[in-house]
Amino acid sequence: MSDISYRPGLEGVSAGETAICSIDDGLRYRGYAIEDLAANASFADVAFLLLRGELPSEDDRREFHQELARFAAQTPNEVLEIVHGAPAAAPLMDVIRSGASLLAHWAPDEGGDDDMQTHLRESTRLLAQLPVVLAAAYRGRRGLPRVDADAELPFAENFLTMLHDTKPTERAVQALDVTLILYAEHEFNASTFTARVVCSTLSDVYSSITAAIGALKGPLHGGANERVMALLEEVGSPENAEPWIRNALANKQRIMGFGHRVYKSGDPRADYLAPLCAELAKESGNEHTEEIAGTIERIIRAEKKLPPNLDWPSARIYAYLGLPVELYTPLFVLSRTAGWCAHFMEQRANNRLIRPRSNYVGPGPRTMTSSS
Ligand SMILES: CC(C)(COP(=O)(O)OP(=O)(O)OC[C@H]1O[C@@H](n2cnc3c(N)ncnc32)[C@H](O)[C@@H]1OP(=O)(O)O)[C@@H](O)C(=O)NCCC(=O)NCCS
Repeated sequence: MSDISYRPGLEGVSAGETAICSIDDGLRYRGYAIEDLAANASFADVAFLLLRGELPSEDDRREFHQELARFAAQTPNEVLEIVHGAPAAAPLMDVIRSGASLLAHWAPDEGGDDDMQTHLRESTRLLAQLPVVLAAAYRGRRGLPRVDADAELPFAENFLTMLHDTKPTERAVQALDVTLILYAEHEFNASTFTARVVCSTLSDVYSSITAAIGALKGPLHGGANERVMALLEEVGSPENAEPWIRNALANKQRIMGFGHRVYKSGDPRADYLAPLCAELAKESGNEHTEEIAGTIERIIRAEKKLPPNLDWPSARIYAYLGLPVELYTPLFVLSRTAGWCAHFMEQRANNRLIRPRSNYVGPGPRTMTSSS
């Protein structure tokens, strides 16, 4: 038996170096605290920061906006037709994962040079086109026609407009933008690590992001935000919250939206979103859901010492904005694409094939007999 040291889930193991995000002194993207970014920057600014290392100047901001708008308008019609016609029963995460892969077939520089300018261009193109893909998939399953991207509109407003074909409220745009900022990056989480592993084989950005979307889909990772709403709906009423959660804990049920592999004493993103979530609940007449959530949170904190993670408030925020649950994890994709692509470029800039070992625990050496 091999005796290489091993930690299940690679818990507490450093699997590489990064200059993109740190979590030791609060959560910071390239040195900026997320609270600072969420209060003062837009999601597009943050995506620029992640992809290029610095916040944009006024000129950069204008050019990046134009670049995103140009790429969004160039989303291949062939891809949009496929996702628009996808079966209504297919999870949107599956459709957007296929969409990311399909975009490669019509990308002008697919198979092109392995240089940073190409990777940056492909990353920006994915960031711009995935919202168009998601909006088309969403509308298709409802029998609605596609809505074109609007070059004038900023990222979140453009997405909501393509989704609903109406102008969203400023409040909805601002709230969605903040959640996109907070979802954008989180060092070596499962999906980002997946993206880096694929990148390390010298594969392309599209393959990396397609694989990362597959990793994000799972309920222990991005899929948790959709399960949070299922949980709150199952509880149903504030009176049922306490018996429901006590019963769930007694049955050792895993409560979605709580706990985190690295944040054991609290997720700063959940703390940041809590007041916004409460305000939106009030504005949208959803105080009863907040009451249910409040009881559940109080009891899990007291009984299990588990604080909520980002998905706990963000799922409720999306619900209070009237967004259907099936969009929650795909929204995470739109945002995290910025982080994944930043990691792709960082990995590629200083690449070494990621190929760890395993400790063999199977049968000892054996020989085939004539009857085997
Ligand atoms: C995120 C998560 C996978 C991290 O877990 P982890 O670091 O592997 O922690 P463990 O699974 O080892 O859990 C440690 C203990 O806390 C408990 N625990 C952790 N998260 C829990 C949760 N959400 N609900 C109930 N109990 C939980 C475990 O059962 C375990 O208890 P035990 O020691 O009595 O067996 C886990 O907290 C989880 O499943 N959360 C729900 C899914 C979720 O919200 N994911 C989004 C993450 S951002």
